[in-house]
Amino acid sequence: MDELNVKQELEEENQSERDYHSKWVCTANHGFAPYAQEELRRMFGSLKSTMMIPGEVFVVTIDSSENEANRLITTRTPIFLRHLFPVHLEIAADTSLDALSAVEEFLLKREEIGGSSAAIQIRKTENSPWKENPAALRGELQRRLAPLELEYTVQSPAWIISLFAADHVWYVGVSHPEDNLSDWNGGAVRFQREEGQISRAKFKLLEAEKQFGIPFHSFLNALDIGAAPGGWTSFLLERGLEVTAVDPAKMHPSLAGNKNLRVIHKNAADVSFRENEFDLIVCDMSWSPKLMARMVKGLLYSLQPGGTAVITVKLLTKKPMALVKEIMETFEESRMQIQGAKQLFHNRDEITLYMIKY
Ligand SMILES: C[S@@+](CC[C@H](N)C(=O)[O-])C[C@H]1O[C@@H](n2cnc3c(N)ncnc32)[C@H](O)[C@@H]1O
Repeated sequence: MDELNVKQELEEENQSERDYHSKWVCTANHGFAPYAQEELRRMFGSLKSTMMIPGEVFVVTIDSSENEANRLITTRTPIFLRHLFPVHLEIAADTSLDALSAVEEFLLKREEIGGSSAAIQIRKTENSPWKENPAALRGELQRRLAPLELEYTVQSPAWIISLFAADHVWYVGVSHPEDNLSDWNGGAVRFQREEGQISRAKFKLLEAEKQFGIPFHSFLNALDIGAAPGGWTSFLLERGLEVTAVDPAKMHPSLAGNKNLRVIHKNAADVSFRENEFDLIVCDMSWSPKLMARMVKGLLYSLQPGGTAVITVKLLTKKPMALVKEIMETFEESRMQIQGAKQLFHNRDEITLYMIKY
């Protein structure tokens, strides 16, 4: 059999393998990969998984076709699995030059992506044979893929070409952004820090707005519990809301005198409001999750039916999945419908809950 026939046979074998199994490079926030693995295990039963970056990136083989696995993962929207891409090529990478040539050869054959808009997303391990930074590898790949005449864009590309350049093996996949759970490289959402920005906490609300599609500009009157120093409060003011901020701690001086802001320097356990006074409640208290849930529940009378709540839940426990379930059930008992639950990139050891009162 000549070399061409051997290759063709191998490709057919790979294709039929992919009808039953699929392989994915998966990413979670640092330390939370075991929970992302567990989420996949609960969806698909047993699976084969290898950690590539401890606590963060793993490769998993699922006993379902790529389409079937993708359908399940994207409809069940996992909490801890932040990003994934399907593996279409897996190559031994003893030298980066050989590996790059194999990637080039594989991608040049993907004629369906030719002429489309695309993003190349590269990540690498510390001991990858590629010694320069990922951006240099992207540049080299772009140069080699010139015959495909791709139109490179970061915003809403039709295709994402992913390359994870690990120590001994490189993984490559070509997918649509909506199939990766996030269109950011590895789900690492980056926002520009603004001049005078009060706290990094603001990024959490910005990310929640994008992740869940929360229409913050459509609300009128918000309660911000645990508001200091005021990153979330400033975000809500920028979206045009009136804000009541509750926190015994000091708010940032730049917020002083804002006519749309009322500050109550008290413990949230000691405040009371009118019934249905707010159409939005946010809470980012970094506190014992069960006590936080009890306190927020105690204030839900002030949230109008149809109103929204966005709450961070600190995961100070060895059993975060059980804790998250318990907290969600607590809120569900109080007429809150969970719209989204996600460990956002800007959440560290916490998750964000997005709920609507019915
Ligand atoms: C992580 S910070 C909030 C950061 C804020 N979201 C921002 O964007 O700047 C947590 C805040 O919760 C406040 N806090 C903790 N327990 C509280 C309570 N029982 N009542 C009111 N505020 C509380 C703390 O004083 C602290 O300022």
